[in-house]
Amino acid sequence: GAPKREDYCLILSIVFIFVTGVKCKSDVSLNGRTVIVTGKAYFSSLSLSLCANTGIGKETALDMARRGARVVLACRSKDRAEAAVLDIRRKTSNNQVVFMHLDLASLKSVRAFAETFLKSEPQLHILINNAGVGLVGKTEDGFSMGVGVNHFGHFLLTNLLLERLKQCVPSRVVVLASETYRMVGLDFSKLSRTEPGHTNGFLDYAHSKLCNVLFARELSNRLEGTNVTCYSVHPGEHSITWLMLILVPVAALLFRDPEGGAQTSIHCAVQEGIERFSGRYFSDCRVREVVAHARDDAVARKLWEFSERMVGLSAD
Ligand SMILES: NC(=O)c1ccc[n+]([C@@H]2O[C@H](COP(=O)([O-])OP(=O)(O)OC[C@H]3O[C@@H](n4cnc5c(N)ncnc54)[C@H](OP(=O)(O)O)[C@@H]3O)[C@@H](O)[C@H]2O)c1
Ligand SMILES: *[C@@H]1O[C@H](CO)[C@@H](O)[C@H](O)[C@H]1NC(C)=O
Repeated sequence: GAPKREDYCLILSIVFIFVTGVKCKSDVSLNGRTVIVTGKAYFSSLSLSLCANTGIGKETALDMARRGARVVLACRSKDRAEAAVLDIRRKTSNNQVVFMHLDLASLKSVRAFAETFLKSEPQLHILINNAGVGLVGKTEDGFSMGVGVNHFGHFLLTNLLLERLKQCVPSRVVVLASETYRMVGLDFSKLSRTEPGHTNGFLDYAHSKLCNVLFARELSNRLEGTNVTCYSVHPGEHSITWLMLILVPVAALLFRDPEGGAQTSIHCAVQEGIERFSGRYFSDCRVREVVAHARDDAVARKLWEFSERMVGLSAD
């Protein structure tokens, strides 16, 4: 017969659970701590349907500000970022929220950001590599856009800030990855400066996210014993993709909750006791096993050395 009221209730409950998801439980204060969040500075009005979680960076920054941190929004768009700064200050009454210009599609800009930051900010406790794009096109340095912004830009940024992180232990690096990392294998020829017009936006994005997972792994290996730890994160819900495809468009209309998308980033930034999972991959605020090619230490090291050459941290 026709669906009953109970059926609607059941569907709504399921939708609610999947959309609201888990919440970071830690109530750690970040008074006196400095946090950098790259990327997202505003909520897109087009963040319905499959992008219900969009705006993770801003939501993360808001949470860090609520905990009393000094928060640096490292973004490319001054206008949007300054609007976000004002919004976060207003919502949290924390005036220690500032904008600093960073365009991850330019290694020169990354170097300029790091120089300005290191000169003006004595401390850094949490670096959140959040910005992410999946666009066709090239960066200023000739990398395909996804890999250039999501991996190489953040790779250089993290390296330039590493000494400061080591001086401020315990400190952390959180790397936004994505489940799409599973869809590709590592192909060094695709990571090089490629010929114009040969990039596929989606595969490039997936590739960059695999680099993010391997980067966090190798970074953690290199940081052993320093008390700087790092984590890669899938910000959305885990292993229910098919269900999300059906439910999210409905759910996004009913319960828009961009806060939910930021919970795993927040968890990895502040939760006590997860240090032993440094280098691992998290989703739904829990550590997850990654597929074999994303936990190969030899590949992770090779990617690191290759990236050092690509961004000019070591001789070509
Ligand atoms: N949303 C999801 O469901 C989902 C799922 C899996 C993984 N992720 C990952 O989570 C992270 C955040 O996702 P999101 O959905 O919040 O992303 P988003 O809404 O697409 O925002 C990404 C941000 O990156 C910034 N960005 C792009 N190019 C940049 C550049 N060259 N320099 C500096 N910043 C740049 C953008 O800045 P502008 O504000 O200037 O445009 C944008 O605000 C990304 O790394 C994404 O790959 C998200
Ligand atoms: C790391 O933290 C532990 C526990 O707090 C401490 O004993 C150790 O000295 C620290 N090591 C470094 C290199 O800071």
